[in-house]
Amino acid sequence: MTLVVQRLRSQLPEEVLAIGTDPPRLSWQVSASHSGLVQLGYEVEASGSPGFEPVLATTGERDGDLQVGVAAPGGALRSRQVRYYRVRVQDASGWSGWSEPLRVEAGLVEPGAWTAQAITMPDDPGSRGQSPAPLLRREFDVPSPITAARLHVTAMGVHRVSLNGRLVSDDLLAPGWTSYRHRILADTYDVTRLLSAGPNVIGAMLGDGWYRGRLGWDSADDRCRYGRELGLVAQLEIDCTDGTHLVVASDRNWRTSTAEIRAADLYDGSAIDLRLAQPGWDAPGFDDSGWIAAITIPFDPGIIEQRSAPPVRRIAVLPVQPSPEGESCWRLDGGQNISGWVRLTVRGRRGDRVVVRHAEVLEPDGGLHVRALRSAKATDAYILARDGPVVLEPAFTFHGFRFAEVETTAEVLDAAFVAISSNTAPRASFECSDADLTRFHENVVWSQRDNFVSIPTDCPQRDERLGWTGDAQAFAATGSTLFDSAAFWESWLRDVAYDQDPELGVPSVVPDVVLGGELRFGRAGWADAATIVPWAVYESYGDAAVLERQFLSMRTWVDSLAQRRGPDGLLVPGTQFGDWLDPDAPVARPWEAKADSEYLANAFFAHSAALVAEAATLLGDRPVADAYRALGREVADATWRRWAGHAVETQTGCAVALQLGVAPDGDRSSVAAALAGLVRAADGRVATGFLGTPLVLPALVEFGHVDECYLMLLRRDVPSWLYQVRAGGTTVWERWDAIRPDGSIHPGTMTSPQDLPDSGDAHMLSFNHYAYGAVVDWVYRHVAGIAPDRERPGYRHVLLAPKPGRGIDWANAAIETSYGRAAIGWRLEGDTLVADVELPFGTTGEFTAPATGGSTVTVDGQMAHTVVPLEPGHHTVVVTAAAVADPAGAPA
Ligand code: BGC
Repeated sequence: MTLVVQRLRSQLPEEVLAIGTDPPRLSWQVSASHSGLVQLGYEVEASGSPGFEPVLATTGERDGDLQVGVAAPGGALRSRQVRYYRVRVQDASGWSGWSEPLRVEAGLVEPGAWTAQAITMPDDPGSRGQSPAPLLRREFDVPSPITAARLHVTAMGVHRVSLNGRLVSDDLLAPGWTSYRHRILADTYDVTRLLSAGPNVIGAMLGDGWYRGRLGWDSADDRCRYGRELGLVAQLEIDCTDGTHLVVASDRNWRTSTAEIRAADLYDGSAIDLRLAQPGWDAPGFDDSGWIAAITIPFDPGIIEQRSAPPVRRIAVLPVQPSPEGESCWRLDGGQNISGWVRLTVRGRRGDRVVVRHAEVLEPDGGLHVRALRSAKATDAYILARDGPVVLEPAFTFHGFRFAEVETTAEVLDAAFVAISSNTAPRASFECSDADLTRFHENVVWSQRDNFVSIPTDCPQRDERLGWTGDAQAFAATGSTLFDSAAFWESWLRDVAYDQDPELGVPSVVPDVVLGGELRFGRAGWADAATIVPWAVYESYGDAAVLERQFLSMRTWVDSLAQRRGPDGLLVPGTQFGDWLDPDAPVARPWEAKADSEYLANAFFAHSAALVAEAATLLGDRPVADAYRALGREVADATWRRWAGHAVETQTGCAVALQLGVAPDGDRSSVAAALAGLVRAADGRVATGFLGTPLVLPALVEFGHVDECYLMLLRRDVPSWLYQVRAGGTTVWERWDAIRPDGSIHPGTMTSPQDLPDSGDAHMLSFNHYAYGAVVDWVYRHVAGIAPDRERPGYRHVLLAPKPGRGIDWANAAIETSYGRAAIGWRLEGDTLVADVELPFGTTGEFTAPATGGSTVTVDGQMAHTVVPLEPGHHTVVVTAAAVADPAGAPA
């Protein structure tokens, strides 16, 4: 057999058991017995049984080399349905054997399949303020041994469900945050092993989470944004050996009470009084006569959707050495800024208090820097129930921190920092001979983990943690490279579409909470997440389904812009965030960037229109493609007529003109030269904010200004990427100089534009904002030299183009693509570059050698051109007299 199909999978992440209404899309990898083989055809079969008897549906034998995002035969599944799929592929010598079967199961797909009611604790004081977490329980008998059991569950709020005292999953903060008015996610868990014949009990705890807990910085009105009542919707379905089908669903027969969790809030932390625990409440036989009956609350099962993105999980546990500080205080340093909490083992006495405070950095005097948290208390407090050692962990909260302080009269025996994140699988690795750049990459990886907590957030520590669309837009390409985040982005993009207003546009934060007034919708570079993020996902993963699904949202956003054009064809001016946090903007007015925000708004408009046109082309709609292409060009031309002179004065202005397609062809190289000149004149100083930063290096490199790229990238003085590393950062900062060269912490003060509170004392100083980490996409593409090709996306065609820069002697990068591992590693031996390349089956590559006039290029020992096509497999490329960019050589 020459080809073997491996890793057949659907779009569902591994941790997610059940699919919803979306039809399965299949992808597979292939291993080949020798090189030179290609997939000429494929066939997929669907069946209700793993033996494929009978076959229910088939694609038939199809020609082609598709391996990613293939529509499964038989379409979407009905509630509870199980389907098996298998694939075989054809090469010139015939058909491979069938793959291992892939099992796909559906959750409760039709709203009518939900018989569970939404239940809650009567008179829950939580509707008025932070208060104890409700417990809900229900005992039931199972008549005979169990063959299969599924729990389908969701909540208004966040839930933690157990069966007979054992948690049904490792998921945290389920069901996660979505646009709750439109959709709320359900999970389906296989709980067969948690149940047995005889008495059983299901127990649930509810927390406020995003549904009812604090969101935003307006402390007078920051709770109950989605509703005043928490609610549990749980439906346990059990099949027994005697043929019984039992359904235990949430209803008025459940009992409710409260226990040790006295308060739990995402921003503020949790308060746990262990003396009030009700031991055994989640085990059968517990006396719940003192509990009260649950009540039902109105709920429309029509808004339930099955989870499609990875759940939030513990992703790392970092051991920490507690160091005593005086009488009753302990200091903890995890060495890494994370999202999560502290797990403590303490030995104390009944009634002892333990208070844990968190911070990202320390003040110069060694104290916790909590000013940056603004109103978020980020404090976990415990009261011990008994003498002796006990392990403490908070509930229904998380903090963004590297340091913690524990105040207690108890003895701290042991500590660990528990890091949490949406459990996207790591997809890429990078390292190079520059230790600071390698560490910066690691910092970006951590900022992504820390800010992918259910949705893509701006920061994980202060009273925000919101789905700021601008940050997501800036980071989407990098985020897609670093982690397998297609399902994560696609889930959030559904909320983008749901929360979008046809006239006002896409919200600045999704899910849409917190903001009001003009800043709420349609801000340039924020709302454009609607077009930019789907494209980034498509380019990185190669499945056009994301464009198909988002197309209406993309188009509607651009239509809303088109309605805002004035007689000159340009947008009617409005308030913008602009090139937010331009390092030259006044400290207190981050929106007052050097680049005109109206210029940027029109440039993003033109770009979004062009992206809609490209998507329409792909989806086969020529007339629509033509219309949006023309619109994009028209806006770009009008923008250039008006702002060409202004654009070339700033790094952001030039980069936007080039990367967003504003500058016409004839002007592009002179704009690039102007940009290179600005960068040289500034000695590589970053002079851009959120919108410009991701675009500068891509713009420079396209026109061959590689010296200037390295001048910026490898700069160590503030402002620069590597300055943060030198200053001890372990994640990416919101401000370039969050810690100043003299060690002092930036005051971070800002008075806010219109709709943000004009407190004059709102601090904007996060040490964990990934937006500036967007440069890592460039690092993969050009330092290591590995990139997807937009024409044949998802690494179907891999662009290999290392551009060594003086000071970097070697670099390695690898990407786990849908086809398998693609990798490059290069080193300089004198002025010869030796690159090892690996390409998986199903891909092709193109190596562009960093050649000078005197170079010779060989591939696997054979003479080659400077641009060489590569087949799957391992290759060694040698380039003599290689071009090495020299930052110092960039003439001032
Ligand atoms: C957030 C940003 C966001 C910005 C919008 C800030 O408070 O943290 O990351 O994009 O506001 O202006």
